[in-house]
Amino acid sequence: MKRGEQGKRLLRALAGEPLQPPPVWMMRQAGRYLPEYRATRAEAGDFLSLCYTPELAAEVTLQPIRRYGFDAAILFADILLLPHALGTDLWFETGEGPRLSTTTTPEGLARLKGADDIHEQLAPVYETLRILARALPRETALIGFAGAPWTVATYMIAGRGTPDQGPAFRLMSEDRATFDALIDAVTEATIAYLSRQIEAGAEAVKLFDSWAGALEGADFDTYALKPARKIIAALKRRHPEVPVIAFPRGAGPRYAGFARATGADCVAVDNSVSARWVAEKVQVDGCIQGNLDPRHMVSGGQALVEETRRIVETFRNGAHVFNLGHGITPDADPDNVALMVETIRNG
Ligand code: CP3
Repeated sequence: MKRGEQGKRLLRALAGEPLQPPPVWMMRQAGRYLPEYRATRAEAGDFLSLCYTPELAAEVTLQPIRRYGFDAAILFADILLLPHALGTDLWFETGEGPRLSTTTTPEGLARLKGADDIHEQLAPVYETLRILARALPRETALIGFAGAPWTVATYMIAGRGTPDQGPAFRLMSEDRATFDALIDAVTEATIAYLSRQIEAGAEAVKLFDSWAGALEGADFDTYALKPARKIIAALKRRHPEVPVIAFPRGAGPRYAGFARATGADCVAVDNSVSARWVAEKVQVDGCIQGNLDPRHMVSGGQALVEETRRIVETFRNGAHVFNLGHGITPDADPDNVALMVETIRNG
């Protein structure tokens, strides 16, 4: 092998190498749009049992790799397993989404476990990674992940998903000390969690800040930038060779400079920003990931082909990991995913 042709393509892109074609994977690539996922989920009984049964979680992680040959597999788990391990009650209401016991007071905070005490509950997640490290094809990279502290805190405070993160903003304004202490507790636990994921075999990790776009002005710096910088710095001290992908979804203009400010190796962008702008303002700092609108996985056709080509073309002068702007939805057609991959790889 010639120098420059070594190593997994995802990891080469994350290290800053422009690749033609770009490596590709999809957020939520193991999910309900795949019949084989629905079958394994039925076997597990419910979503949380699926997450906590290593053989089945590894199986659903591998399903989209077998079908599409993606360049990366992402651990099958959920960002809410971390609050669960901190002591929060967690369950999923069918058709409605997650429910958690809430943490909004100093007493509630004091009841949470410390960062060193989460690993027993999370042991199945680490076992899933160990299985995957053995089972994946040699060219496929393994990605671990966690939610970013702000996004995780919004669920811990509200006890559910909210359209506007209202309860979190209310706590932020009414009792900032408690809010800040919660962010710190989640930050420390996230460092411990991601370190263990890396030790179990994750070759890159991703921080999902799904609600970063709700933070404005100085709050964006305090609650999106700063915790990401702290987590990335701590991970780099322990595992300097492991790249970090940051996804401050909805950050808009704040995507520019995010990699520099946090030390992230790659910034994942949603589909609300134009590829042209991202190439000029974000990709100048390193690898970017994104940004095909997930709706194309439902609608398909020539529009999917043209958008895919346009994104590949716009990012071709720098490092790029092809991905969607957000997770693939349950109503997506698996054939459209195949068409996207075929278009990326064969033009
Ligand atoms: O990307 C992957 O394939 C890896 C696995 C993964 C899941 N969730 C599996 C999942 C990842 C990385 C996540 C992240 C996650 N979870 C986020 C951040 C990313 C984003 O989408 O913004 C958030 C906010 C959550 C919390 C969460 N989990 C919600 C709000 C829901 C319900 C919504 C829904 O789609 O049903 C989940 C459930 C969930 N997590 C599913 C999957 C495959 C669906 C569960 C099912 O099978 O019914």
